[in-house]
Amino acid sequence: MTEPGDTVAEVDWKAYEAEAIAAYEAASTLDELNDVNVRFLGRRADLPQSLRQVRDRETGKALNELRTRLEQAHQQAAQRIGSLGFAEALGESVDVTLPGERIPRGRLHPITQIRREVEDIFVGLGYEVVDGNEVETVEYIFDKLNMPEGHVTRSPLHTYYLSDDVVLRTETSASQVRTMEAKQPPVYMVSLGRVYRRDTPDPSHYPIFHQVEGLAVDKGITLADLKGTLQLLMRRLFGDERDVRLRTSFFPFTEPSVEADVSCFLCNQKGCRMCEYEGWIEVGGAGMVDPNVFQAVGYDPEEISGFAFGWGLERIFLLRHGLTDIRMLWQNDLRLLRQF
Ligand code: DAH
Repeated sequence: MTEPGDTVAEVDWKAYEAEAIAAYEAASTLDELNDVNVRFLGRRADLPQSLRQVRDRETGKALNELRTRLEQAHQQAAQRIGSLGFAEALGESVDVTLPGERIPRGRLHPITQIRREVEDIFVGLGYEVVDGNEVETVEYIFDKLNMPEGHVTRSPLHTYYLSDDVVLRTETSASQVRTMEAKQPPVYMVSLGRVYRRDTPDPSHYPIFHQVEGLAVDKGITLADLKGTLQLLMRRLFGDERDVRLRTSFFPFTEPSVEADVSCFLCNQKGCRMCEYEGWIEVGGAGMVDPNVFQAVGYDPEEISGFAFGWGLERIFLLRHGLTDIRMLWQNDLRLLRQF
């Protein structure tokens, strides 16, 4: 065993090398390796000390070569310990040949899907997509839509009031008024979003749901344009063979008002449970914009005319998939959502 401080001549370099190599090989942690390094290559170890003192070339060359060998031994040991540490970090349970874990992929909610589908159809027809306000004033949701005082929809039993004159919108129709106030005809717009009503949940009601509102205002627009547009929409949504039927109805903001039906796509009008053996399924309200609404936004009803419609997106979705309960769309049950 060599002792630190021995002079060049006194050190048995063969033994020094053998001892060092054995120590490098035996080191099993980086701390141990560091100690070995200090002992054999550190500033005060025999080899570096001797290298500083040595005068003759032969010995210098031999000691330099020895130092290179020890440095290599150090490097190999460092690599060995490094990869040991890596294996430890991975843990023994990792089998890199096993297939990876499946990461579940998210998808859009069915209502978002149908919303985008309807938006795309109208964008394709040159309509503008407009955002509405979910929180709306009584003025815009009721007054300017020609709803008289005392109309049932104005009742707090029907509508969520946030204050005397601010409500959660009960329909998307106020977006018509805001759009017309903001621009001059021609107007071709759709507005899609949530609406709120004080309804008790049952298979066909839920206090929140979605509507698509459509409005076309131009010179010479007629009920035939409305029917053609709705027919196109129905065919895109329910298949090319579908027909649309308009029945008279009433809404304060349209005159005349209609209820639109689509021919039953389940039985092809032979009669089934879906269409209640009628051959026709009701999809939603529509009509020609009432002159009072035009006046409220400063349009001249003598100059222009227009049609409008407002349909529930949930209803369209349920019909399309033969589902019977709107509540399903709000329960976020992955077993259902995964299917769409
Ligand atoms: N806002 C009506 C509702 O929620 C639907 C509706 C009917 C909208 C006729 C319209 C329309 O724009 O012209 O029941």
